[in-house]
Amino acid sequence: MGKLALCSAKAKLLALALLAVAAATAVAVVVAGSRTDQPSSPPPAPPKCGGAVNTGAANCEPQLWVPTGTSNASMACYAYGGPSDPCALTVTNDADAGRTKDPSGCAADTFFLWDEPETQGETYEWAASRWLVYAASFAAQIGALRARGVRFTTPMLKADNASGRLLRFWSACGAPCSNESSPAYIDIVAVNPFCGVWNLPVGTAAACRNGAAFVLNDLRPVLRGRAVYVTNWGYLGSSTAAAQLAAMDATDAFFVDGSPVARVYWFGATDYGGGTTNNFLDRTVESGDRAGQTLGAIWKAKCDSL
Ligand SMILES: *[C@@H]1O[C@H](CO)[C@@H](O)[C@H](O)[C@H]1NC(C)=O
Ligand SMILES: *[C@@H]1O[C@H](CO)[C@@H](O)[C@H](O)[C@H]1NC(C)=O
Ligand SMILES: *[C@@H]1O[C@H](CO)[C@@H](O)[C@H](O)[C@H]1NC(C)=O
Repeated sequence: MGKLALCSAKAKLLALALLAVAAATAVAVVVAGSRTDQPSSPPPAPPKCGGAVNTGAANCEPQLWVPTGTSNASMACYAYGGPSDPCALTVTNDADAGRTKDPSGCAADTFFLWDEPETQGETYEWAASRWLVYAASFAAQIGALRARGVRFTTPMLKADNASGRLLRFWSACGAPCSNESSPAYIDIVAVNPFCGVWNLPVGTAAACRNGAAFVLNDLRPVLRGRAVYVTNWGYLGSSTAAAQLAAMDATDAFFVDGSPVARVYWFGATDYGGGTTNNFLDRTVESGDRAGQTLGAIWKAKCDSL
């Protein structure tokens, strides 16, 4: 999700219908065996958890680290690019989608390509060709970032047919995205799975676990050996903090044995397309046996248990 996200409830329902079709296909592909013909990156560094906050790195402190009582050492932050977040390229917050944005100021451990390009009116082919040009323009700066451990992600994939979107990106990018000596090498696959009413039974952690497993099964055959960062996770389309717990409680589903997931970012930012509210980590659970606790405290406890 991002600024000007165009997805509507209707689009989600259509996606749900498509997911049903994709489910059968994904199972068949998984049975056929994973494709691991590409070099793997070294294991990504901790932390396992993080948060996606509103645009600008200044939001990491009030919207992620304060509500969870943490720092960047145990919670990674994604801040939707813009002039004050040098660690991400975005369509909506960076001039010319970041074409001339110097990445050198990125002090975190991850540099993110564009959030859901199609949600912002672009394509995965566009993202691949933009990335090849960007990586060539900033080869020296990217090399310096890599030398101190910064990893580069794919565009954040919208999760209905994430595998199809990823294949389109790989295909348009070609050899450089899989060449560890190239500035354009991609270390991490980024995906925005989200849980929502399309996961049944509605509003349960079991449904969100199934949704998480579904997206991973879809992606596994096309990861080309890369680790996965879940860059947006939360319950989409709801209006209470209590409703977010189904997704938060299900986060362990991303870390089952053999999972390619190395990190999950809580979606604690404004949802411009899906209408979600009270998903920020400083919100207090309104009802139920955890009433009075903040989402941030519950996220911290969940992350400590992973
Ligand atoms: C945390 O932030 C400090 C200061 O900007 C930076 O030096 C350090 O590399 C960061 N650590 C991580 C894991 O992002
Ligand atoms: C998924 O995306 C691929 C590549 O664009 C496409 O060929 C395929 O038909 C899509 N599958 C579904 C179920 O939409
Ligand atoms: C990988 O990238 C390096 C640096 O750009 C280049 O010299 C080399 O030819 C590339 N290898 C392949 C197989 O494309």
